[in-house]
Amino acid sequence: MTNASPTYVFPKGFVWGSATAAIQVEGAASLYGKGPSNWDVFCREHPEKIFDRGSPEVACDHYHRYKEDVRLMKETGHTGYRLSIAWTRIFPEGYGRTNPEGIAFYRALFDELLASGIEPNVTLYHWDLPQTLAERGGWENKETIEHFVHYARTCFELFGSRVRLWSTLNEPAWTTLQGYVTGLHPPNQTSHRAAIQVSHNFNVAHARVVKDFQAMKRAGAFAAGAEAQIGLVLNMSTVYPATKDPLDVRAARLADGVLNRWFIDPALKGVYPEDIWELYRSCGILPVHTESELALFRENTVDYIGVNYYYPHYASSDAPESAYHLNTSGKANEDCVFAIKDLFRFVKNPSGKYTDWGWEIFPEGLYELLWRAQEYRPGIPVYITENGVGMNEKLDDQGTVNDEARIEFVREHLKVAHRAISNGVNVKGYYMWALMDNFSWVNGFKKRYGFLFVDRATQARSIKASGRWYREVSARNGF
Ligand code: NOJ
Repeated sequence: MTNASPTYVFPKGFVWGSATAAIQVEGAASLYGKGPSNWDVFCREHPEKIFDRGSPEVACDHYHRYKEDVRLMKETGHTGYRLSIAWTRIFPEGYGRTNPEGIAFYRALFDELLASGIEPNVTLYHWDLPQTLAERGGWENKETIEHFVHYARTCFELFGSRVRLWSTLNEPAWTTLQGYVTGLHPPNQTSHRAAIQVSHNFNVAHARVVKDFQAMKRAGAFAAGAEAQIGLVLNMSTVYPATKDPLDVRAARLADGVLNRWFIDPALKGVYPEDIWELYRSCGILPVHTESELALFRENTVDYIGVNYYYPHYASSDAPESAYHLNTSGKANEDCVFAIKDLFRFVKNPSGKYTDWGWEIFPEGLYELLWRAQEYRPGIPVYITENGVGMNEKLDDQGTVNDEARIEFVREHLKVAHRAISNGVNVKGYYMWALMDNFSWVNGFKKRYGFLFVDRATQARSIKASGRWYREVSARNGF
């Protein structure tokens, strides 16, 4: 460890963490009483839709190896860990009877983390919907909201003595777009009307859970008392106009509204953005809603906001057709495509630096997102709940991975976060995506994100150079 004092010193108590999601790491997909989720079923029925037919069935076997994984978190300097609960481990059918083994698993995991000085930050919904509910219309059906609210209350009752930091949903915009616009994720639909209904139902489900959380907090359900907090995790990608042309400026504003403001505004300000509401109204696709749902937003804004940031967008107004393509192969010459007819089309930044999966590396974009949270509500706590880089990696002769590019990626983003803090944004922590290489949805396992390299054949974990670097950064509270 170097003795020189760090140039970038972070506030006392800053969380040095990383993140995962249940289905991406746990495995034991149909063991120990767990019910099937929509993703389990999708991957079983359509293996051809996942890169290299990767499956979450075993994933990283974290369910069986969680003690080792917590030990490795400690070895890599973690003071926080963001994870999600698999709804189907608690309620195998989505509602009704609970599963004692699933409950015991999360209790044991939280205890192991707390005993190691690592604070859990728990997401209730990270895309794995109980299959029973998926079959009854999933998030299009308002009944799912009721079941989600009950599931959330149950989690607060079960784990409130151990968990202080909670979030309701992970990236509702991305879930909606991939599930209902591009059709790449389950339920593989392509319907704008359904997408908007689902996004509204997500916003309602979120606000309902925030409301219950605050009531339960007042009633003493959380050991952390008033310190217990609930937030929403958003992928607030910055959207720039592709050119200075006013039409592109308008397209960028629209894209920002559809992808970002439609979720941030109700969660932070308590209202939908007027321009997007008007857009959906004029297209005849406003979601089915009630006045009391809209009132819920006004009365139940978040305690903190979680920012997931990977790359920015550049919007062009030239969008004659809808078109979508996600680079899942990691072939550097294969671009991602996203265009909604007559609204906007995302284009590449000609001078941008891109990963092999076509995601631009642009740390400065994070600054705008952090600052944006501050503009919405000065002083609001912000956690960088995901930020990281997917790479093609293999172990070297020394049994490690020299992932200098990841170190540089994380360092440059942390510098930006540091500047935001210096300028007054209340950034409380950083969770690198991800703790370990994992099941990356339709990308399968090829796109590696972890501080820990996971051998696919043996499940053996090896700390990458970035993990060793992170330990030092955490120990010095800066770099
Ligand atoms: C965001 C998602 O929350 C996470 O599950 C995913 O694996 C990362 N993006 C990387 O693609």
